Amino acid sequence: MTAPAAPAELRLDTVVKRYGGRPAVDGVSLAVGPGEAVGLVGESGSGKSTLARLALGLLAPDGGTVRFAGHDPYRLRGARARAVRGRLQFVPQHPRGSLNPALRAGEAVAFALRLHGTPRAERAGAVAGLFRQVGLDPALARRHPRELSGGQLQRVAVARALATRPDLLVCDEPTSALDRSAQARLLDLLTGLRERTGLGLLFISHDLAVVRHLADRVLVLRHGRVLEEGPAADLWEAPGHPYTRALLEAATGRTAPRPTTLT
Ligand SMILES: Nc1ncnc2c1ncn2[C@@H]1O[C@H](COP(=O)(O)OP(=O)(O)O)[C@@H](O)[C@H]1O
Ligand SMILES: [Mg+2]
Repeated sequence: MTAPAAPAELRLDTVVKRYGGRPAVDGVSLAVGPGEAVGLVGESGSGKSTLARLALGLLAPDGGTVRFAGHDPYRLRGARARAVRGRLQFVPQHPRGSLNPALRAGEAVAFALRLHGTPRAERAGAVAGLFRQVGLDPALARRHPRELSGGQLQRVAVARALATRPDLLVCDEPTSALDRSAQARLLDLLTGLRERTGLGLLFISHDLAVVRHLADRVLVLRHGRVLEEGPAADLWEAPGHPYTRALLEAATGRTAPRPTTLT
């Protein structure tokens, strides 16, 4: 008998990560509940990717704790590691760098299915199903990464992430290498997946406009610390901190409203 799986909650508690003594992530606490979409915004170098790697268990924290479904993803080993990591997946910033150029797109997805334990006989059908799920013609599975556009590659990266039937996707600037229209289509895809399947998202971007589309709640990161957090609409309408206002102005080109003073 297998125990029922713990709820797919990601929880970071006062997490610290230093490089050469300098904190890249400096005491961050955040939680993403099952099916929730949380946005993380901050300028380049604010610690977003380091936080993503900590959340995924790819880096060990120097302080604090990381838990996903009750487990420390960094310390998991063996079969349980595969099971838990399958529920927590990653969509990288640069799909061209993360997909093996020698493998056809379908082979990359099939490889993820194999790691997940999908029997060989079912893999081709599952690859086609995943391609359709991300809005790609299954015929594109035969192409190599160099024969696909940036937008198509990013969809392949999403298909590969979905191969293990994750509960939560950590997306690290998945649209920043795409043009505006490919960006919008990828955001629509992620929104649709979330609505249809209850997939949770930790969505990272330097662009508050992008995050606002997807996230229920947003955290603003600066110098490895959470500067402010709140409902996405509230931060958009009335950013509390000058740094958030600057991010908003960068995202929209308009002058952001100042917070109303309550006296
Ligand atoms: N592997 C590493 N070695 C040393 N410093 C790093 C490493 N990765 C990130 N950093 C530093 O940590 C800080 C945060 O980086 P990063 O998490 O990549 O930020 P972001 O994704 O927001 O641009 C930066 O100052 C960066 O130079
Ligand atoms: Mg980054």
